[in-house]
Amino acid sequence: MKIYKTITAELGEATYPIILGRSIIDNIVKHIEEFTKNKKIVIVTDTFFTESLGNKVRELFLDAEFEVYLVTMNAGKGNKNIHEVLKIFGLLEENNVARDSTLIAIGGGVIGDLAGFVASTWLRGMNLVHIPTTLMAMVDSSVGGKVAINFRKTINAIGNYYHPRLNLMDLDLIDSLPDRDYYSGIAEVIKCAVISDKELFNYLIDNCSLISQRSSEYLVHCISSALEIKINHVNGDIREGGKRLLLNYGHTLGHAIEISTEVDEDEYYRHGEGVSIGIMAVAYVAEKYFGLNNELYQSFEKLFKTYNLPTYVDSEKIGYGKEYILEECIKNVHKDKKRINNSLRVILSDKIGSARAYNDVPVSLINEAFLHIVR
Ligand SMILES: NC(=O)c1ccc[n+]([C@@H]2O[C@H](COP(=O)([O-])OP(=O)(O)OC[C@H]3O[C@@H](n4cnc5c(N)ncnc54)[C@H](O)[C@@H]3O)[C@@H](O)[C@H]2O)c1
Repeated sequence: MKIYKTITAELGEATYPIILGRSIIDNIVKHIEEFTKNKKIVIVTDTFFTESLGNKVRELFLDAEFEVYLVTMNAGKGNKNIHEVLKIFGLLEENNVARDSTLIAIGGGVIGDLAGFVASTWLRGMNLVHIPTTLMAMVDSSVGGKVAINFRKTINAIGNYYHPRLNLMDLDLIDSLPDRDYYSGIAEVIKCAVISDKELFNYLIDNCSLISQRSSEYLVHCISSALEIKINHVNGDIREGGKRLLLNYGHTLGHAIEISTEVDEDEYYRHGEGVSIGIMAVAYVAEKYFGLNNELYQSFEKLFKTYNLPTYVDSEKIGYGKEYILEECIKNVHKDKKRINNSLRVILSDKIGSARAYNDVPVSLINEAFLHIVR
């Protein structure tokens, strides 16, 4: 077992440790006994981990004489839905799971968001522990307290704010992550760098090869830097009234791109890929809106390409006509929660390491950005 770093997330009333290391799951029983005496555990795991980590965690608790329920579900955003939630509620109800029992979410953002939503609503909130297994979940979704499920075509339509008691980030889990999912997580690290940390932006440029090789030291630096930025933006603004908004950089347009390119109700672009294209789209908006230097646009493009992230929507590859995707993007962006009358609230960056919310970006300029980015 190796612990690289313990970060204390101080988020309003919630304060909990985020432990970053290798083979750290072995100690999970001890960690849970520190905050509850209740001996019921519900594990919600990505099917990918049922036989490995899911069973391992189950055995650890059984050995310590806990009553353990294991629920498995497939990841992919098509499964972040109310039907999966109802299945888990059924199990909780049938087995008299109490508020001081603990639900452990093992998986990426889909499992963490859904299981977190269940924990937040069951009896108005039961103990939650995150074991994020994707880089996306480590740097973003498992921290900050947003939990949600999708409803029809609306991403994160039904949700809540809810924090875990503990977050265990085991870098061993990153080893098996497909490249596409790994780089999708890197997109969120790049986002954090753009909105608030120029040094991190340069670090991502200078160490691209070692970061791509998932070398521990570089991975720890990327994850902990992104976490510190996220915690700093969420602290004091859990409900997104001010600085937390900046974390949505690239997301408003990115979400619309994600939904508009779905194939057979499943994603074509990973969340982080939607974010990288969304960032290119808002960099275009910033160029037109306040004359952002085109060199900045080009430096984003270069960095995304270095990490195999898309910089535009390739309609031919997706297999839909460009016109169709454009129309869908424009339709879906208006469903976004950040809309205000005929303008959209969009986060724009004027230089690396700085960003702010603009409440009055005209819808026509957003449409023009889609026209530029959907090819
Ligand atoms: N709550 C938040 O603040 C927040 C922030 C960002 C993203 N999100 C949400 O997160 C979701 C995307 O998260 P994600 O990218 O982690 O998706 P995901 O959970 O669907 O995982 C992506 C894929 O990786 C597989 N996988 C997971 N861990 C693995 C591992 N260690 N090795 C091999 N394969 C593994 C999964 O089975 C899946 O196929 C979206 O629903 C998005 O809305 C939420």
